[in-house]
Amino acid sequence: MFENDDGFLKAYLEDRQKIVEEALQHYLPADDIPPKIYEAVRYSVFNGGKRIRPILCMAAAEAVGGDLASAMPVACALELIHTYSLIHDDLPAMDDDDFRRGKSTCHKVFGEDIAILAGDALLTEAFVLLSRAEKVRLSGFSAERRLAIIQEISYAAGIGGMVGGQALDVLSGNSGADENTLREIHRRKTGALIVAAVKSGAFIFNAGKDKIQALAEYGINLGLAFQIADDILNVEGDRELMGKETGSDAARNKLTYPSLLGMELAKEKLARYIDAAVASLAGFDERAMPLVVIARYIMERKS
Ligand code: IPE
Ligand code: IPE
Ligand code: MG
Ligand code: MG
Repeated sequence: MFENDDGFLKAYLEDRQKIVEEALQHYLPADDIPPKIYEAVRYSVFNGGKRIRPILCMAAAEAVGGDLASAMPVACALELIHTYSLIHDDLPAMDDDDFRRGKSTCHKVFGEDIAILAGDALLTEAFVLLSRAEKVRLSGFSAERRLAIIQEISYAAGIGGMVGGQALDVLSGNSGADENTLREIHRRKTGALIVAAVKSGAFIFNAGKDKIQALAEYGINLGLAFQIADDILNVEGDRELMGKETGSDAARNKLTYPSLLGMELAKEKLARYIDAAVASLAGFDERAMPLVVIARYIMERKS
């Protein structure tokens, strides 16, 4: 249906990343909070994030005929939630990582207490952003539509989604596990927020059921692919390019696709999920082209 285009991809991602950076600068709370947590929040949000979830949200919005400006609060809320999940994921009680987005992890710089609170703050601020009355008026969304978006995103961030997946991740050992268990962990810890990103982008503009369903399929497959790629990069990736440690999954005996199935099969699965994601967009027109290109990028990414 569409051709991949490296030149387009690079320019597209840079352009979208810039839009997200500017919007995040605008939305992040600047007042009325103790300086240290504000510093910790800004430290973790800025510099180095790929902004894939907001970019997916914007791309889905455009695929259903929406505009970028109206999608920005939702796109940025997703990035705040994602950043919170990374801060907590890196804590000593979880993955105990020292390096994230090319810098020392939040708890290394600000202490565990402030890192936990910075994560809590980002999660909560995301919902402030999604529910702020003046944003509803500005964009002309109905309160009902905004509630549907809040429900989608809160579900994806919670026990049925990311938090539940993280719990499964920390509780499951590497022995005796099967692929279904691993897929379920990935679907929740990483996939859920990616599904919410594309669905909420389409919700903003009241897309029809078929389009929402197709985007959900895209998100499910892309989310699974995204985590397999992350696990492959943990084995084969470049620490500097990725801005986070490599080799840590093996060191901690983590259950991953490469550890469960071997590298070759893990790569095959990755390609299959990407193909399935792209195939789910068959009913869209050329406005969905960025979603296709992003899917190819997820497979080939080096960071
Ligand atoms: C990393 O996500 C955590 C996973 C869910 C695999 P990203 O690879 O999107 O990280 P950033 O936002 O670019 O740092
Ligand atoms: C991170 O999974 C998933 C979430 C933060 C929800 P990982 O622990 O595998 O990701 P990295 O490798 O630390 O980014
Ligand atoms: Mg983890
Ligand atoms: Mg981790």
